[in-house]
Order: sequence, then structure tokens, then C-alpha cells
Amino acid sequence: MIFWPVVFWVHFSTILQIVCGRKWNDTGRGTIIFEEAWTIPALIDQITSNVPPVGQTNADLKINMLDIHNQRLAGMDANGVDYMVISCASPCIQGISDQATAEAMARNVNDQLAATIANNTFRFGGFASLAMHNATTAAQELKRTVVELGFLGAMINDYQQSGPDDETLLFYDQPEYDVFWEMVTSLDVPVYLHPRANIAQIQNLLYGHAPWLRGPTQEFAVTLSTHVMGLCTNGVFDRFPKLNIIVGHLGERLPSDLWRIDDQLARQVPEGMPMRRNLSSYWRTNLFETVSGNFATLLFDLHKKQIGLDRILYSVDYPWVAMSQGEAWLKELAETMSSRDLWALKRGLAVEVLRLNH
Ligand SMILES: *[C@@H]1O[C@H](CO)[C@@H](O)[C@H](O)[C@H]1NC(C)=O
Ligand SMILES: *[C@@H]1O[C@H](CO)[C@@H](O)[C@H](O)[C@H]1NC(C)=O
Ligand SMILES: *[C@@H]1O[C@H](CO)[C@@H](O)[C@H](O)[C@H]1NC(C)=O
Ligand SMILES: *[C@@H]1O[C@H](CO)[C@@H](O)[C@H](O)[C@H]1NC(C)=O
Repeated sequence: MIFWPVVFWVHFSTILQIVCGRKWNDTGRGTIIFEEAWTIPALIDQITSNVPPVGQTNADLKINMLDIHNQRLAGMDANGVDYMVISCASPCIQGISDQATAEAMARNVNDQLAATIANNTFRFGGFASLAMHNATTAAQELKRTVVELGFLGAMINDYQQSGPDDETLLFYDQPEYDVFWEMVTSLDVPVYLHPRANIAQIQNLLYGHAPWLRGPTQEFAVTLSTHVMGLCTNGVFDRFPKLNIIVGHLGERLPSDLWRIDDQLARQVPEGMPMRRNLSSYWRTNLFETVSGNFATLLFDLHKKQIGLDRILYSVDYPWVAMSQGEAWLKELAETMSSRDLWALKRGLAVEVLRLNH
């Protein structure tokens, strides 16, 4: 339930933003982070797919997930975070098979996020949650959140499960999703693709023998990187050359493995693969990665060479990962990186990709 004064304030603040431009806490040196999870009480029981950070209980994690204005904001102040873009914790809407339920829940989550951050859009922005069953409806909801709620793009948690048995998996590399990508590019916003836990049937088949490998250890990266390579190989970026997709956790391993991927995909060209270029090249034009939850300096150095620093952005993955851990890593990088490169990583590129000053 949203009370009308809150709705009124959301609309009023949006009108203010349209008239005055976005005002955010631009200190000129703080970080901008945007793979940061939050959820609503109705979805809190989805937070079961992996384990909380060391030293925290599941109860601590849930409290942090539901909070915005208290310990989250205090953590931002303590760790030099100027601005945070918030999104609904995985799987969020992608974990709801029934289309009508999912579409209503997406609107509900978006309205609640807008209402909750309405009194502090100086520090917080939002990414839309979208039901992806119908690409036209998803496009319309994205437009509503960007135009009316001032959101900065969308966070989609990998494939959309659907169907009575949850077993119909929808991937956005199919032609029927072109109407969605058309809207994304015409609104000029990025889409962040975040991992999800697989439906139970797949989890049991693939990870039943070693349940430790579910979630961030293995399942997330292999499942999402397959979807990202689906977008590439099925020609989505050839049809939408201006489309910007962000992938977290150091690109779900893809930039670490480009030689073999390019080598093998080249062999698929005679087999009718729609992709017109190679995977490496989309990392130079359409794909960005963040370092969220993967502060691995050696890999970061490799990725700088593989895809370029102008494709890599900072983020944390709060509350799964502590903001202080990210901040400590940035301090370590400062010993070897030029201040100009570090500035680009921690905020400069984010201002452009999120169109924060538009
Ligand atoms: C702006 O962000 C910094 C962290 O970079 C924080 O310390 C400061 O309090 C914020 N300013 C306001 C007015 O919120
Ligand atoms: C925004 O509202 C929340 C909830 O009432 C409150 O805790 C927070 O302090 C408010 N923030 C600002 C900047 O007014
Ligand atoms: C998707 O929604 C649109 C708009 O409501 C509708 O016209 C279209 O038939 C739907 N598509 C499918 C495949 O159900
Ligand atoms: C990938 O394509 C780019 C140009 O689109 C080319 O310069 C590069 O050599 C290709 N890489 C591989 C490994 O084929």
C-alpha cells in the first residue's frame, strides 16, 4: 500500500528533476555503486539461495536487505560512497512464474522503491524490476519507471522463469524481445544483468552432488554468462548497436576466457550463427563489467588488457559484500594506479553510463 501523499511526493520530485536536472551528492571524489540489493517484506523469503557474509547471520542479512536510510546510509558515509543505485535482490520478479502476479509485483516493487528513496534522491537512485514474460509489457514498465519515477535503467536477474511447473525459461536473446531492447535504447538507459539461482529442477540435477557450488561460487557465473553469450551470438548487439549491458562480478568470468570463446565461435560461422562480430569486440562496444564482489587485483589487471579500463566500473554487491571491503581494495589500488584511472573506475565512467548528469 502506498499512501497518496507519498505518491504525490514521488510525482512532485520527478517533476522537480525534470525541471532542474538530477541533483546527486557529487563530491567529485566519492564512489558510485549500483549492484546494491534491497527488497520488500513480501519478497524477503527469496533470500535463501546462498549464505550470509562471514560474521553475519541470515537474520542480519535480512535486516540489511530491508533497510535503506539507516545502516546502509551510514555505511555509505563511512566509506566515501556518494551515490547508490538500488535494485531488488535476486531473483526478485524473475523468480515469479505467473505472469499476472509477476507484472503486479514489479509495479509494486518499483513504486515502493521510488516512494522509499523519494526523500533522499540526493544519495539514492533506482533500477527498475521488470516482469519479462511479455516484452511489450516489460518495455512499458521500464518506460514508466524511467520517465515517471526517475529510475536510471533496469536490473534483470537472468532468465525469467514461467509456466505452471516453472520450467519455461525465457531468454532475452530471442527476436520477440527486440521490442524491449528497442525501448531500452530509445530511453538511453543501461540494463544490468544480474545472476539468479536456477529453478529447483536444474539445481537438483546440476548441483545435487555438490550443493556447495550453488550460488556465487559457480552456479551464478556459468548460468548468467551463458545468457550474455546468447545475446551476443544471437545478434542482439548487431540489431541494437547502442545497447549498453552491465554484467557484475568481473563480467561473470567472460573477459577471462575470450581467447577460447572467440576461437570456438569462429567455427560456428559456417553453421549459420547470426552474430556478425566476435565476443571480444562486444566487450568494447556494448558490454561493461563491474568489480562487484570480486576484488581480485590480478584479474582486474588482466581485464584491463582484455577489454580496457573504459569498460570496467566499481560496485560493491551490498549487503552480500561490505562497503568497507570495496573501499579497502580501492585504497590498495591507489598504490599502483594513477589517480586519473582510479577516478574513472570508482565514479567517472559511472556518471556517463548511468547518465547521472543528463
Ligand atoms: C556526500 O557523500 C559523502 C561520501 O562520499 C558523505 O560523507 C557526505 O555526508 C554526503 N553529503 C551529503 C550532504 O549527504
Ligand atoms: C527519509 O524517510 C525515512 C523514513 O521515514 C527516514 O528514516 C529518513 O531519515 C528520511 N531521510 C531524509 C533525508 O529525510
Ligand atoms: C504482450 O502484451 C501486449 C500488450 O498488452 C499484447 O498486445 C501482446 O499480445 C502480448 N504478447 C503476447 C505474446 O502475449
Ligand atoms: C575480434 O574482432 C575484432 C574486430 O571486430 C578484431 O580486431 C579482432 O582481431 C577479433 N579477435 C579475434 C580473437 O578474432
